[in-house]
Amino acid sequence: MYTKEELKKTIVNELGEYNLIVLSNREPYIHTMKEGRIKVQRPSGGAVTALDPVMKACGGTWIAHGSGSGDRKVVDKNNKIMVPEGDPKYTLKRLWLSKEEEKGYYYGFSNETLWPLSHIVYQRPVFREEDWQMYQKVNKKFADAVIEEIGRRNNKKTLVWIQDFQLALTAKYIKEANPNIICAYFWHIPWPNPEAFRICPFKKEIIEGILANDMVGFHIRYHADNFIETVEREVEAKTDRERNSLIKEGHETLVRAFPISVDFEEISRQVALEASLKRAKKLKKDLSLEGKIVFLGCDRIDYTKGIPERLIAFDKFLDKYPRYKEKIVFVQIGAVSRVLIKAYEDINSEINRLVGEINWKHSTSDWTPLIFSKEFVPYNDILTFYSLADVIVISSLHDGMNLVAKEYIASKNDYNGAIILSQFTGSARELQEAFFINPFNTDEFVDTIKQVIDMPQKEKEKRMKILRDIVSDNNIYKWAATVIQELSKFYL
Ligand code: G6P
Repeated sequence: MYTKEELKKTIVNELGEYNLIVLSNREPYIHTMKEGRIKVQRPSGGAVTALDPVMKACGGTWIAHGSGSGDRKVVDKNNKIMVPEGDPKYTLKRLWLSKEEEKGYYYGFSNETLWPLSHIVYQRPVFREEDWQMYQKVNKKFADAVIEEIGRRNNKKTLVWIQDFQLALTAKYIKEANPNIICAYFWHIPWPNPEAFRICPFKKEIIEGILANDMVGFHIRYHADNFIETVEREVEAKTDRERNSLIKEGHETLVRAFPISVDFEEISRQVALEASLKRAKKLKKDLSLEGKIVFLGCDRIDYTKGIPERLIAFDKFLDKYPRYKEKIVFVQIGAVSRVLIKAYEDINSEINRLVGEINWKHSTSDWTPLIFSKEFVPYNDILTFYSLADVIVISSLHDGMNLVAKEYIASKNDYNGAIILSQFTGSARELQEAFFINPFNTDEFVDTIKQVIDMPQKEKEKRMKILRDIVSDNNIYKWAATVIQELSKFYL
């Protein structure tokens, strides 16, 4: 297993002379005010889950939007705070957005334009000129924060590692201010095929913004190839197939696939702690899960995650195999997200309605088939849920990677678990021992639920062992080291 110590060595060897700055929209720690007291929350979402352990191992500065109600209260005069609390390892620098900026850049262009455009799940993207203006303005603001940050430092060179679709133009503004700064970009969601992307009125500017980076990473080769094809169709650029790179106006951008992962060792350690085992017992008792087959869904509430599809499949399963009534419970944990957007409000209501209907239809005096928790669930409790669930169901209609699958595997120290996994997730490419479904095919979904329940324990354990080897061999530290090494071969 690749360790955080090895990553540290790689960083020292490859980046010894460099400042490392990470940029993302979402911050890794959110301070909220509750009843006059400040609490720290760890947001749900793949990008921060993956990057936090990397930053803890290598140190540096992470610049992100300060979105919590208590965020301003805890930072110093430079808007900085060392994190995590109690065991500080790196600097979080917060950048503030006005309501108007957040509306246009985050809710509008990021989540009503780029998110549906990239996922292609039949949610129509919205193109508003004013959102696009705000997106450019805020991307520039992130670039200015980088330039300001570098200004305060010594003459060391800087590597800026930009995360995700909210910041597609930032490298362009950084390079305009200082072309010597190395910029690497990671696009954490799918990149669509050229036919889907071509409808975007701002496509040329977005592509040119991304090509200002020295390297662009995607989770899987398929998305990287989609990006190359899109560039070839939309702008004047040369493709170098040997180096897998794109050259525009003399500037080269490497295009790579780096499947992201999780901190396998840490998750595995956490769930083995006495406190976690106690929590598992308590949760089982409190939720009447003892002696039941526990199915788990754990997602940010988003229309890409296929939550209604899985609830409908569960309903049909109980119709088709009524002998499982009272023997099985489906726990769905869902962190509400992007609630100001109508499509998110709609998906929330749809899930609430389905949970109500299915429970009304099947429940008995001693048994409720579905438990739906919309409350914020602390990360430790999520890990405990993973460890006690017999089966996790990941039914995304389209997903860049899906780290829930990998977190669940890391939590199964006893090999006792199985994954029902959508074939439309990036993680499906690596996790070949999962039980694959097409979430749009309800009958197949129902049969797969039955297949998992019927499979002999020994066979499930065998599959889980293989899955654990895959995730532990390809953990988050190896991912980060591979990115840095690839970059250093060419630029550092
Ligand atoms: C996905 C995206 C991330 C985003 C996360 C949570 O994983 O790739 O960029 O941060 O969802 O979404 P939110 O809008 O709450 O940050």
